[in-house]
Amino acid sequence: MFVETDATGAAGWSPPQAQRIKAASNVKLNEINLRMIELYRLRKEVPSGAETLTILHSLDLSIPDGQFVSIVGPSGSGKSTLLGLIAGLDAPTAGEIKIDGEAITAMDEDSLAALRGRKIGIVFQSFHLISSLTAYENVLVPMEIAGLRDAPERARRLLEDVDLTARAHHYPSQLSGGEQQRVSIARAFSNDPSILLADEPTGNLDSKNGRHVFDLMLKLNRQRGTTLILITHDHELAALADRRIALRDGRVVGDSSEGKMNETHDTDDDGAATGGAAGDELLATATAATVERRGRR
Ligand SMILES: Nc1ncnc2c1ncn2[C@@H]1O[C@H](COP(=O)(O)OP(=O)(O)OP(=O)(O)O)[C@@H](O)[C@H]1O
Ligand SMILES: [Mg+2]
Repeated sequence: MFVETDATGAAGWSPPQAQRIKAASNVKLNEINLRMIELYRLRKEVPSGAETLTILHSLDLSIPDGQFVSIVGPSGSGKSTLLGLIAGLDAPTAGEIKIDGEAITAMDEDSLAALRGRKIGIVFQSFHLISSLTAYENVLVPMEIAGLRDAPERARRLLEDVDLTARAHHYPSQLSGGEQQRVSIARAFSNDPSILLADEPTGNLDSKNGRHVFDLMLKLNRQRGTTLILITHDHELAALADRRIALRDGRVVGDSSEGKMNETHDTDDDGAATGGAAGDELLATATAATVERRGRR
């Protein structure tokens, strides 16, 4: 579980990438998942009066295990739509999505829900907490529904991890925006997800709380090898990711892993800089994620 420290007992930040590669050197290449999330010719259209509005145009994307990807782009560029499709909460008009090798586009609702329960944590911009449940119960109940034996203890530790032990028995209406967002993060971590999808989780928070929430997610990514997709309008936070992807009008117009993140592609509210992870770094990230996940078994 995320709240545990790593094998050495050390909490905090991961070693630099070079050391991560070294630590991972005993992992076989065929164990490494370079395709945790795969999108093929992904298209989303919605009816708009007599016409059809295309929200996403034939998107191709591959995200390796353990990568931290930030998605930037102007309002209406399709970021939330994309996240909803990856989470299986919405169906594409055309194209294919694979999560950890499984084609989710062909799955029925029950299989999708089961996959989400096993592999995916979601942090929504608007928290989505249940107002009649306390902070503790909001974290506990999904784990109880999933049949986790140590759910009460896990819920307690997850709340401790987001620094909310003192607020555990408060209802959402009694919590600040930042506190509610931290509860929703504790809940998203409760199934120890391989993939965490976060839609502007820091958008409603002041810079101190925003940074705290961001640090919690980064810690999950670095310590647990969780693949992290973060939508953000915050350029500074976006720049801390392994890879930045810019969307505009439903198209990928910048991808730092292809060296395509520059001023031309990435104007106004996406000010991410040039550079980022290339092939070797992707391999290192995915390898480190495999090592970290293996350590949890
Ligand atoms: N169900 C729908 N029906 C019609 N249009 C929709 C629907 N869902 C989204 N859209 C439109 O698709 C576009 C992309 O929406 P989306 O929510 O993905 O944008 P976004 O990049 O997340 O924007 P923001 O930064 O404001 O959250 C918008 O123009 C939106 O109005
Ligand atoms: Mg959005």
